[in-house]
Amino acid sequence: MPHRINLPQDFRWGVATAAYQIEGAAAEGGRGPSIWDTFCDRPGAVRDGHSGARACDHYHRYPEDIELMRGLGLDAYRFSIAWPRIQPTGAGPVNAAGLDFYERLVDGLLDAGITPFPTLFHWDLPQALEDAGGWLNRDTAHRFAEYAAVVADRLGDRVPAWITLNEPFVHMVYGYALGIHAPGHALLLDALPVAHHQLLGHALAAGALAERGAQVLIANNCTPVRPASGSAEDTAAADAYDALHNRLFNDPLLLGRYPDLAAYGVGPDLGGAVRDGDLALIAAAPLDGLGINYYNPTRIAAPTEPGLPFSEAPIDGVPRTHFGWPVVPDGLRELLVGLRERYGAALPPVTITENGCSTDDLLDDTARIDYLAGHLDALAAASAQGVDVRGYFTWSLLDNFEWAEGYHQRFGLVHVDFESQKRTPKASYTWYRDLIAAHRG
Ligand code: FCB
Repeated sequence: MPHRINLPQDFRWGVATAAYQIEGAAAEGGRGPSIWDTFCDRPGAVRDGHSGARACDHYHRYPEDIELMRGLGLDAYRFSIAWPRIQPTGAGPVNAAGLDFYERLVDGLLDAGITPFPTLFHWDLPQALEDAGGWLNRDTAHRFAEYAAVVADRLGDRVPAWITLNEPFVHMVYGYALGIHAPGHALLLDALPVAHHQLLGHALAAGALAERGAQVLIANNCTPVRPASGSAEDTAAADAYDALHNRLFNDPLLLGRYPDLAAYGVGPDLGGAVRDGDLALIAAAPLDGLGINYYNPTRIAAPTEPGLPFSEAPIDGVPRTHFGWPVVPDGLRELLVGLRERYGAALPPVTITENGCSTDDLLDDTARIDYLAGHLDALAAASAQGVDVRGYFTWSLLDNFEWAEGYHQRFGLVHVDFESQKRTPKASYTWYRDLIAAHRG
């Protein structure tokens, strides 16, 4: 029996991927180097020295991947555009072969009846922009808007909606604060200007996209934050963490202000990055929907050492993914209902732009089916509680290059043999296909 799910009839079903994680062909088609090419070359940066240089070879095998998506019966496909394929140095000259590639992909999707839903930045910044300071440099926000306009001028007649940024929180924390991801800076709180410059880039790009008649979303990684106990110390720590992870990226968009970061010793100008007029621009930028990437809740306790105003506490007694992430499906309902309570009418319609898990079951991936079923039930419960949810994108179509974990975490509905590049649908592929068909009725 296919899993039945109580969501609106016009709900949109999809899968998500990202350019650097699947495309490969890093040195082909005029693509310039990105910060991820550089980072993967750094000894010890990525597990076992893996890189995305070949990944799933999607750059060449995209027709086969579109057929896999057609087989799922998807409404939409969330993929990302590699900025260094469009502008190899991140500014100025446009690489025609890069635009041609995404045009072929978009046209192939449309032929298969699938709506293209591109993300403009999923972490693969052109290296030349990093050499000029990356997202620590305010100018990158302006370059991003120019790039967005170039892509929309070419594809805007076939792409109804765009996602500007993927997970600006994770990019800031992993890339600039802790050095776990590219570009590999470990600046701790001095990374905060990266939040502001990304949001400014989002706003400038959103303006350029809307001028061209497109809808605009952003994909924020959000987590419901649970204090480890009812003590005042744990509650204050949980509030501080919530401000950094969730509110830093949602409040300026929806309320036009940054949350109070006094617990971090940081003022409202985020280390001098915020200029007059910026917040008004960010709040006024068109936002037709909020994309939410949800994986797990976070449990927070009072700090155990100096430096940060919180510490992370384990979530016990629940299953864990292969990555070790706790599986708490109801956290998705909790998150969405909490967002609605926090933002009220300012919360635009929500789309789940990523949700999924890594497993070590290569083909018979019942753990993934359980994960997805639980989260979709939680989504339906949020919808029943009045949250306006419009779509759901499973992460991911294919097993792929999982950043610092290399090829060690498999998130796909489709197994990929990275030697032969053979694709094999897993049990979850069939399950998701049947769920989509059953929902359409
Ligand atoms: C998210 C990323 C995505 C993928 C999943 C597992 O944080 O946006 O690229 O790595 O995690």
